[in-house]
Amino acid sequence: MAIMTVTETQTHKGPSRAWWKEASIYQIYPASFKDSNGDGLGDVRGVIQKLDYLQSLGVDAVWLCPIYKSPQKDMGYDISDYRDIHEPYGTLQDVEELTAALHGRGMKMVMDLVVNHTSDQHVWFQESKSSRDNSKHDFYIWKEPRLLENGTRAPPNNWASAFGGSAWTYNEARDQYYLGLFCPEQPDLNWENPQVVREVHDIMEFWLKKGIDGFRMDVINMISKVPGLPDAPITLPGRQWQPGDMYYAYGPRLNEYLQGLRGILDRYNAFAVGEMPNVKKDSQVAAVVASDRKELNMIFQFDIVDMDIGDDGKFSPRDWSLNTLKGIVNRWQTFMYEIDGWNALFLENHDQARSVSRFTKHRPEHRALAAKMLATFIGTQSGTLYIYQGQELGMTSLPEDWSLDEFRDLESLNHHAEAVEYFRGNEEGMKVFMRDLRKKARDNARSPMQWNTEENAGFSSATPWMRVNDSYTEINAKRLDNESSSVLNYWRNLLKARKEHVDSLVYGNFELVQDGDEAVVCFRRGGGHGADAWTVLNFTDDEVLWQAPDALLQAIAGGKQVIGTYDDAVVREGNKLRLRPFEARTFI
Ligand code: GLC
Repeated sequence: MAIMTVTETQTHKGPSRAWWKEASIYQIYPASFKDSNGDGLGDVRGVIQKLDYLQSLGVDAVWLCPIYKSPQKDMGYDISDYRDIHEPYGTLQDVEELTAALHGRGMKMVMDLVVNHTSDQHVWFQESKSSRDNSKHDFYIWKEPRLLENGTRAPPNNWASAFGGSAWTYNEARDQYYLGLFCPEQPDLNWENPQVVREVHDIMEFWLKKGIDGFRMDVINMISKVPGLPDAPITLPGRQWQPGDMYYAYGPRLNEYLQGLRGILDRYNAFAVGEMPNVKKDSQVAAVVASDRKELNMIFQFDIVDMDIGDDGKFSPRDWSLNTLKGIVNRWQTFMYEIDGWNALFLENHDQARSVSRFTKHRPEHRALAAKMLATFIGTQSGTLYIYQGQELGMTSLPEDWSLDEFRDLESLNHHAEAVEYFRGNEEGMKVFMRDLRKKARDNARSPMQWNTEENAGFSSATPWMRVNDSYTEINAKRLDNESSSVLNYWRNLLKARKEHVDSLVYGNFELVQDGDEAVVCFRRGGGHGADAWTVLNFTDDEVLWQAPDALLQAIAGGKQVIGTYDDAVVREGNKLRLRPFEARTFI
């Protein structure tokens, strides 16, 4: 049995300790968490009402998705005032009360910082777009039109925006285009302008002075663009607009800007996790998260959630195998140990479909087992653990028979409209697109939290802004709270075990059993930090007979099981384990 050797890492002292390394962080999507005032939309007071629930889950911190003033073109990721709250979500006082209440319970408060772009309704942009010579004229990225041979004007380059169409929007008053990598109502800030950088630092201080403990930094890798903003190479033949990420996913001044942000964070002893799509190179990741770099504490790296994305963009399919997944996990788990960086562990968030629907193939009666297996998989790795609301219930993606009218996300709707044009006359192409859209749409994660079997799943007394997933009659917090073997109680036990065995499960090193098996994942944590901890998981809905390494068999015989998806003892047959569907166990 080949077990990866990690001789170098075994010789160093291992990671230093910090609260944010040991924390399990619960992500709240405010629109869909809990409506306290009966308007169909979640709010900050709704979060305050549910603090007992969060504490009983055993999480250490809350990451609140944007609640700032916003026209809500992109659900609050388009901010028009960083120092005020979107009215339906509540007031600044509510946020202060939430922060104090979390602190009163020994929990931390993490806010979303969205500073690659603002809303087009932000006063900066309102002024910036008004003329070429106002005081904010250089706050955004403006460029001259490109003139085509026939004399008509066109965007300055061929970059596609994330939510469809060109990344550029024409403005009459300036006779120029501005860049918006997401949607036209989300203009990109110009970080080359030192005034912009100072403003961002001020915004951070505003919130840090209110006592918040850290930031999740939205697409923070995109704040520096390659000067000149060159045309992207054609990687999607037949499409008018091309992915330009090679020119903005990791621009030349990124590290400098991040060091600037870190300077502010350090003054308040706060931490930051950066969202970094399209950053895959070891050297680039290391330059941001290696502790001696003094940039970010950790990043959301996208290899796992991009695993099923094909060459033709997010809504094109790609097959993945369990060994693909194991390879990704092994790579980042061992890498962070070597560079003294840190992992952010996640399978879900507000931009991703529900993990149990996306990453497991299960019979309906095995859904809860599959969700617990995934919990064990992610929850026994090294890093800071992120749990997205509803993940602890094993919530599922949206039912396949829902009409697209129920979808609310501009990414889904815009890409659908584009696909209708693009696949005109190509029924098969459209069918594949639709299957993938349903599988990966962000809407899957955004349906209201399922609290109980009452009207609207107990989320709201009014018609919710987005339809409640029909699964709520079965999957809801109240019911799962009462069932000792539920997904919810499994998560509670898992988070407890992570605390109890923090040396091994948080700080220990990681060794993957590299046997190429397509059904079973097995890894050992520890390596001199705490006792060895072994996790073994059957990722499939079938029973498998799996050849176990001797060291695992010894751990089973002489150790204790700290968590497992089946109540009875593991079934051993000689040197093999007979693992039932989604059987998952951790032994110490
Ligand atoms: C991030 C957010 C996503 C948002 C985008 C633009 O990816 O997580 O929800 O649409 O940035 O701000």
